[in-house]
Amino acid sequence: MIDLSVHLLNWYDQHGRKDLPWRQHRDPYRIWVSEIMLQQTQVVTVIPYYQRFVARFPTVKTLATAPLDEVLHLWAGLGYYARGRNLHKTAKMLVDNYNGEFPLEIERVCELPGIGRSTAGAILAFAHGQRYPILDGNVKRILTRYHRVSGWPGRRSVEQQLWELAERHTPNTRVADYTQAVMDLGATICRRVEPLCAACPLRKQCAARRCGDPHAFPTRAPRRDKPAKAVSMVMIRNTHGVLLERRPATGVWGGLWGFPECAPGADVPATIKARYGMIVAPEPCWDPIRHSFTHFHLHITPVPAKLVINGSGVMETADLVWYNPLQPDERGLAAPVKSLLKKLSKSYGA
Ligand code: ADE
Repeated sequence: MIDLSVHLLNWYDQHGRKDLPWRQHRDPYRIWVSEIMLQQTQVVTVIPYYQRFVARFPTVKTLATAPLDEVLHLWAGLGYYARGRNLHKTAKMLVDNYNGEFPLEIERVCELPGIGRSTAGAILAFAHGQRYPILDGNVKRILTRYHRVSGWPGRRSVEQQLWELAERHTPNTRVADYTQAVMDLGATICRRVEPLCAACPLRKQCAARRCGDPHAFPTRAPRRDKPAKAVSMVMIRNTHGVLLERRPATGVWGGLWGFPECAPGADVPATIKARYGMIVAPEPCWDPIRHSFTHFHLHITPVPAKLVINGSGVMETADLVWYNPLQPDERGLAAPVKSLLKKLSKSYGA
């Protein structure tokens, strides 16, 4: 039987996405940046972020020497900020340990923060045509359907089986095109919902298609409802702006700027007084906002508050700032904070 890769490459020659900005060159740095951005985000969303990012940081060195805040500012809106922090950390490691070059050995690439086996394989395939398989969500979907592999791919044994299949189908030549081809097939034809089987170059061999059940693959993860957490965000205003603090480097929105937070139902003036020595007068809460993360939902209650007395005189520090919503600057803001600031700016403008 002719291998999947042959059908796929023929299809790619006619239908593949060859105009993607990161496929216009073989610079491992740019390929790496694009692969990290594309890990959890769709192509259409990534393109403008990618273009701004590489225009501002055209080399590993420019990225390594930039302040983290600026990197996170360019990342704001893409989500999963650990990716941005890891990119920055890895750039520094590349400068310190590899003379600013991307390593060529997959073992070294996999040691870099934020780069797993599949991303490492994609970078080396795109940049140098090295023959490594990839196994991202698209490829898992294609292979589980093509071979009718049952079992949740998050299970080690299933994942192992899929790596073996991915390895087997990776061709010896045109590896970069093949890698792009599987990604493109997954994104445009072998879609999670409503796969376009009639247009698929693999339709004759695909086991799930032959059995009429491509929707049943890949097997879903055991269902687990996401827990919900709640928080109040206190938007303390003075005449200069609104108080923002930098969040801890780890955890949700690590390193980004946000409003002081209180537990829901907490005594807001008492909490703020204890933490910052300020007397504030809370105003009626705004409508709650819901923000979803991978593992939980966050219910945010925005609490506007006026600064009455700046008791111990909270000064601006490296992690605390009076931010003027009418003059946004280059700092990474958590997405809901950004939209709340926008709303606040209207009251400042009034
Ligand atoms: N998803 C991950 N990598 C990609 C790439 N190089 N092109 C399109 N989608 C992708």
